[in-house]
Amino acid sequence: MGIWRASTEAEMSAREKAHMDKVRRFAAEGMVLLENDGTLPLSKDVKKVALFGNGARHMIKGGKGSGDVNSRSVVGIEQGIKDAGYEIVSGSWLDEYDRICVDCRAKYDEHIQEMVKTAGNPMIAFMEYFNNPYHDPDIQEISDADLVDADAAVYVIARDSGEGRDRKPVAGDYELTENEKKNIEKLAGRYEKFVVALNVGGVIDTKALRSIKGIGAVLLMSQAGNVIGTVFADVLFGDSIPTGHLAMTWAENYSDYPAYDTFSSQNGNVDDEYYNEGIFVGYRYFDSFGKKPAYSFGYGLSYTSFDIKTEDVTLDGETLTAKVTVKNTGDKFSGKQLVQLYVSAPDGKLEKPVKELKAFAKTKELAPGEAETLTIKAEVSSFASYDEKSASYILEAGKYFIRIGENAGCTHVVAAVEIENEITTCKLSNRFKIDTELNEISAKNEKPLTYDGEEDEKASAKILKLSADAIKTVTAEYVKEPAELNNTSSDKVTLEDVKAGKASLDDLLGQLSREEMADLCVGTARGGFGGTSVIGTASAVVPGAAGDTSSKLASERGIHNLVLADGPAGLRLTPYFAVDEDNKIIPEMSAMAFDFPGSDDAPKTEIKGEVTKYYQYCTAIPIATMLAQTWNMEVIEEAGDLVGAEMEELGVNLWLAPGMNIQKNPLCGRNFEYYSEDPLLAGMCAAADTKGVQKHKGCGTTIKHFACNNQEDNRMHTNAHVSERALREIYLKGFEIAVRQSQPLSIMTSYNLINGLHAANNYDLLTAVCRDEWGFKGVIMTDWGTTGGIEMEQRKFKYGSSNAADCVRTGNDLTMPGSEADVQNILDSDVSRAELQVCARRILNCVLECRY
Ligand code: BGC
Repeated sequence: MGIWRASTEAEMSAREKAHMDKVRRFAAEGMVLLENDGTLPLSKDVKKVALFGNGARHMIKGGKGSGDVNSRSVVGIEQGIKDAGYEIVSGSWLDEYDRICVDCRAKYDEHIQEMVKTAGNPMIAFMEYFNNPYHDPDIQEISDADLVDADAAVYVIARDSGEGRDRKPVAGDYELTENEKKNIEKLAGRYEKFVVALNVGGVIDTKALRSIKGIGAVLLMSQAGNVIGTVFADVLFGDSIPTGHLAMTWAENYSDYPAYDTFSSQNGNVDDEYYNEGIFVGYRYFDSFGKKPAYSFGYGLSYTSFDIKTEDVTLDGETLTAKVTVKNTGDKFSGKQLVQLYVSAPDGKLEKPVKELKAFAKTKELAPGEAETLTIKAEVSSFASYDEKSASYILEAGKYFIRIGENAGCTHVVAAVEIENEITTCKLSNRFKIDTELNEISAKNEKPLTYDGEEDEKASAKILKLSADAIKTVTAEYVKEPAELNNTSSDKVTLEDVKAGKASLDDLLGQLSREEMADLCVGTARGGFGGTSVIGTASAVVPGAAGDTSSKLASERGIHNLVLADGPAGLRLTPYFAVDEDNKIIPEMSAMAFDFPGSDDAPKTEIKGEVTKYYQYCTAIPIATMLAQTWNMEVIEEAGDLVGAEMEELGVNLWLAPGMNIQKNPLCGRNFEYYSEDPLLAGMCAAADTKGVQKHKGCGTTIKHFACNNQEDNRMHTNAHVSERALREIYLKGFEIAVRQSQPLSIMTSYNLINGLHAANNYDLLTAVCRDEWGFKGVIMTDWGTTGGIEMEQRKFKYGSSNAADCVRTGNDLTMPGSEADVQNILDSDVSRAELQVCARRILNCVLECRY
């Protein structure tokens, strides 16, 4: 007894309640009102609600895969509305859909169980479950008889996606199904007050919702975690106000996105991903190529209206400051408004997108008539672009127009920073040589999006001249690896000695053998994941945690293991488990981390003595995209703080989150785990999340997946061909911002290759750029099974796997979850003690930070 941090109380804890209340308070900030003719919020005289749609009862709180958090319960939409005191009058239609789903799930489970029996290797069945997860079937049609009397109708469209599979541009996924369209049309014609709610983690086609007459409001309710139904009801009836704004551009058609036809499986080639859109990702593309989206990046309505007035824009040294007054011009509802600051850099040697986000701010909640003046700051050096020829960030000569607005589709020029002669802001070296020809698109002959009066605004913009010495060139220094340390003293040094100041870390490292360090640089597996795993003890300490660092040196060297658990939509653990007198877990009496149907004839555990049950229910918080949609860094820090508190309580050291890949294409199966198409927003969100988590002693974040994990269908073996400029300005920029602003304790590499080299084995990415250029101090680890332990598919791949020895050589400190084969791979290689010491030092620093 006593080895578990989990609680023996089955009842909902005070912490669970408090955290649910917290999420309820802030989640509406991430809901985006896409359309509203005044229908929302529903007036208080609405008593009876007709509720339909596949998400009404089967709502999605977050996505599938390792990002799925095991909360005690989820307040559904129907439940949330009922709890708020309203009557649901469409129960029999909802019951019918339940029946359809039960049948469908039973067939799916049968199929998996059949595979367990016949596939020989249980991993094959598990991968089928992972790669082709269960999805609820299409919704049934609403008949005339279903159109019962009600004061308002709500239709909830839900979409689920997850790790290992990309979405498809087809009905039931990106597109609405025919039944959905028919149903919505029917309800729009029948009910005066009719709301469509989108319980989705990413973009869907909204054309039908804009063409069908009679839809009063469309709310992107997103996926808000386990209090989703409560938050939705709050917003529906005006007890909370939705103040979210999109973090990704919602196009008119899927085919409007750049590289739409070559993304993932779209062209049948999942081995090579050509990033031909270059820097033109998201709104950078739509603006520059004159494609008007359905909803722009940053778009979001409010229950009230606002006036945005730029008071003044000034330049002090290289710091640009805009003072912007926002006034709530409505007379009924309060609200919060987002103000974005974009820069349009001049074209020169380098092509520039029409505009790029450089800063933003959100107001406090403004009552009708109330105003607030926001101060928005940006550094001019952040306007620079990467020039591959000179391997530098440069500010070309010309005018940099400053734009202020509420979203990318609605800005006004308010000033211009003038730069007389080209400035080099940062001198680096090229690190990502392209391995093939790319056909990067150019906007040179395209007509960008514009608006009436834009040219006049530019002509009359206040000019702010940047003084020639305002920006000093920073030159990166690339560090040479240190020489091997040796400590021949016969007194055995432990990490406890280092902590107590009796010895230095160098003393300890100088004594560690190659074998000891190889063990330290390879983690241990979660129960059952990979047959040849190095067995540690920590996964038995926190069941359901994704893995631990090695505990092999615990007794001899006092080096304790670190516990690593997933996210990002909360802390992912086994919700409850039972143990016998010897603390042996009894699987039949415990919840599994996945709802894998498994086999009925699994052997029964031999139970010794008394059984004790433990509980570790965690809070499912809003998905990352929804957090980004708040555009409120205080809210995101609070979300991180909440997760950090649960990590501290349950004994988790590193949270395998936040995910922060760029939402390059709307079909990426894990977009819901990521923040945005824009690197500044993504980077700031990850930094805020990290600050929240790292307030807690012994807890840190793991920003992931570094980098270009933009495709899921062949996520382990795909090769991302991408230019150095696009990498640095788009795909790495968010990571750079997060590292510089918040020093996360760790980073997880991605499975994929970048320009022919595995991200996990890429010295330039991990050491030269991340550590030497950005100053990252923490641990870098691989994603799970990067070295080939876990294959998602049984086939021969064009590109193979990374390996543990090269992880050490390139600065990837920890191979996770690791296996004996990985340890052997290091020992059989010519990896030197000095190289191992570099990685071991960083792991030991992390252990000192977290476990002492
Ligand atoms: C995912 C990671 C996750 C890891 C551990 C991998 O399959 O890509 O995001 O942290 O598993 O569960």
